[in-house]
Amino acid sequence: MLVVKGRVFFKGRLEAAAVGIADGKVVAVKKVLRGEETSDFGDSLILPGCVDAHVHLRDPGLTRKEDFPSGTRSAALGGVSTVADMPNTVPPVTTRVAFEEKAAALRGRAAVDYALYAAPRSGSAVPRMPDAIGFKVYMAESTGDLQIDEEAMEDVLEAAGDADRLVVVHAEDARRFTRPARGGLEGHHMARPKESEVSAIQALGKMSRGARVHVAHVTCTEALDAVPAGVTKEATPHHLLLDFRRDLKAFGKVNPPLRSPEDRGALWRAYVEGRVDLVASDHAPHAIEEKQERFPEAPSGLPGVATSFPLLLRRVKAGDLALERLVETIAEGPARVLGIEKGTIAVGRDADLVVVDPRDVRRVTAKRVRYACGWTPFEGMEACFPEAVLLRGEPVVEDGEPAAEGLGRMITAAKS
Ligand code: DOR
Ligand code: ZN
Repeated sequence: MLVVKGRVFFKGRLEAAAVGIADGKVVAVKKVLRGEETSDFGDSLILPGCVDAHVHLRDPGLTRKEDFPSGTRSAALGGVSTVADMPNTVPPVTTRVAFEEKAAALRGRAAVDYALYAAPRSGSAVPRMPDAIGFKVYMAESTGDLQIDEEAMEDVLEAAGDADRLVVVHAEDARRFTRPARGGLEGHHMARPKESEVSAIQALGKMSRGARVHVAHVTCTEALDAVPAGVTKEATPHHLLLDFRRDLKAFGKVNPPLRSPEDRGALWRAYVEGRVDLVASDHAPHAIEEKQERFPEAPSGLPGVATSFPLLLRRVKAGDLALERLVETIAEGPARVLGIEKGTIAVGRDADLVVVDPRDVRRVTAKRVRYACGWTPFEGMEACFPEAVLLRGEPVVEDGEPAAEGLGRMITAAKS
């Protein structure tokens, strides 16, 4: 048995304890434990490994921007031990064959555990992809052109409902898009306004639902208010921490867009108050050259898989956010929404652990996060990066540096 000691987040609170690990699982959490090998992390926190339910790792097909080894290495550096990868890779994951080919191409190349989404174009494809962690539905055009119309969407929702599967919705209504007079990030916000999100979420509310539905990247409280009961909600660190007043140019261009400082503040308060089920990065890297194009031509999306947890833990240290709330939204919540047995330190669970000292405050830099795309929109912001990360008991980060790679396994939803 391996024993890991520190201040352990167990049963909803921190206590000085030891976690016993055997065969990749947590086998005991006690005040004192004796094992063959002990790692004592002193006062550092031992938290459940983070689960990022929304990443775009660009593999296969767009690996110049990111690939599975690089993206999952960055994930690990940011305390993420499980990622769920979106289907707008090339070719898009719209069929069983594409799903299986993607799964085969990724095998053995991930530093952390991973799950894969599919994007069925009709309900009939839903039962053909039993290993997909869920189904992504784009209600409006975004990177990858995977949007479907309302009829196809109802069909997917119905089929997913019959099979008790998860549907993740990108909610923007293109009929509410405008041609703003202004350019830049504020213009992008006006072009794809808050009303377009609210309208798409209202339309979603009217569609037949039996499926487990999750609304991705809600940017404002108006959108949160529109989400029907029983539907889960996600916020991203960029909508919680950045706004269109930042001088990011097209490096801050993302769909749905960054909003005003007031919107950001209101979303932050809603998050702190518990109105958001999970935080996901929507890690969507694009090349620096593409982001340097004229604003209208530059692609939407920004990277973030390595910074979600470190940036938010810094807010905990500053007293702006409760640690319980962070763990709930960055580990437990996403695991629950995805239906996977991750995100909690408990006997019998995978020993996916993050060790971090919140007193160790550093600045986010492109070098530290090691994305293949070579940039981060959070450059210079203060963050608390993990000192160690364990994946099923194996160190994937040691002394803040990548350790073992290729240990990640594909996981599928727990079958009920
Ligand atoms: O800004 C975005 N970028 N929104 C999306 O929906 C997709 C993403 C990407 O893949 O680049
Ligand atoms: Zn996305």
